[in-house]
Amino acid sequence: MSDDPEDRMLGWDESVFRDEHVFEIDWLPETFKHRDTQMETLKYALRPAVRGSRPLNVIARGPPGTGKTTAAQILFDELTAQTDVKTVRVNCQMDSTRYAVFSRLFAEIFDYEPPSSGISFKKLFSQITDKLVEEDEVLVVALDDVNYLFYESEASDTLYSLLRAHEAHSGAKIGVICVSSDLELDVIDALDTRVQSVFRPEEVYFNPYGQAEIADILGERADRGFNEGVVGPTVLDRVAELTEEQGGDLRVGIDLLRRAGMNAEMRASRSVETEDVEEAYDKSKYVHLSRRLRELSDSETALVEVIAAHDGQQAGDIYDAFSEQTDLGYTRYSEIINKLDQLDIIDADYTNVEGRGRSRELTLNYDADAVLERL
Ligand SMILES: Nc1ncnc2c1ncn2[C@@H]1O[C@H](COP(=O)(O)OP(=O)(O)OP(=O)(O)O)[C@@H](O)[C@H]1O
Ligand SMILES: [Mg+2]
Repeated sequence: MSDDPEDRMLGWDESVFRDEHVFEIDWLPETFKHRDTQMETLKYALRPAVRGSRPLNVIARGPPGTGKTTAAQILFDELTAQTDVKTVRVNCQMDSTRYAVFSRLFAEIFDYEPPSSGISFKKLFSQITDKLVEEDEVLVVALDDVNYLFYESEASDTLYSLLRAHEAHSGAKIGVICVSSDLELDVIDALDTRVQSVFRPEEVYFNPYGQAEIADILGERADRGFNEGVVGPTVLDRVAELTEEQGGDLRVGIDLLRRAGMNAEMRASRSVETEDVEEAYDKSKYVHLSRRLRELSDSETALVEVIAAHDGQQAGDIYDAFSEQTDLGYTRYSEIINKLDQLDIIDADYTNVEGRGRSRELTLNYDADAVLERL
């Protein structure tokens, strides 16, 4: 450090960051404020499991970045540390079929992957339940981002198997927490009636944080992540304001803090200024988009690219361009369009085209360059 106290320049061996890890996506916060009612309902639902009974099932809903995954993770960590309850969180973006979900459960319960040689679903299922019964364990499964199971039409089968496990395998006790960030999806309504008749979940809603709550939570994160005095109240308020503009998704705010910190370092400044935040915002506002694009399959990504090149054109014309690249049929093509529409990456609205009747027009919901840059 310089001898001159007025010197605001950062030396090569210095950083604005105290601990940059706290801005990483999977960092689990030590305090979890403004979510007390949600945590209470979740604990109420899970308490029977601690006593060795089947817990209540739960649907947790709320827009992106409102603490749903974090809530499940904190509870699961507590249960693992303090009780015999077995907990598994399944990321349905990655495991989006019933078979994949149960393979994940198998791997977590047995500590090794199920045989890849193609063991039947029935066998996979009964090995899991046999083990639970044998160990007299209650299993709580969080189907995180369960909306992806719906996009693949796998939700009803998956839930049906989990919810009726105790009937198929006497003594098996499984509870399910469904976490959805798709507010347009009515989870219960979208299930088959055979599932609806056995699924009477508790509902927990994760409302978007308000600006003051965002500032409070991010202030704590900034204190851990930055050296003292690096982020002042004006900067923090601006970050909270921009985060609220993005639907209150805390991921945007956390990303903004980190990028603004890096921008300050680039200027060799000891403190983050609002200009660093404004500059970071051009990137940070796309955190949803990046996250959604990252989980797409190759053919889904290929279609996004084609749509970006033919933004606003009719579905039929875009299919012609798409089919030059892949051998997917029109049915699968339509399914992918539905998924991209549900993910809000594109809009697919019906319009009347002269001489051709009703057809869907496909438009990107984001700037085409921003999308292509992130693919
Ligand atoms: N109350 C809180 N206190 C501290 N950090 C929080 C709080 N709520 C959320 N976060 C942080 O915000 C980020 C997003 O939270 P989380 O991943 O739990 O959101 P989510 O609701 O699961 O979002 P998505 O629906 O997009 O999966 C995480 O980095 C998490 O640490
Ligand atoms: Mg989540």
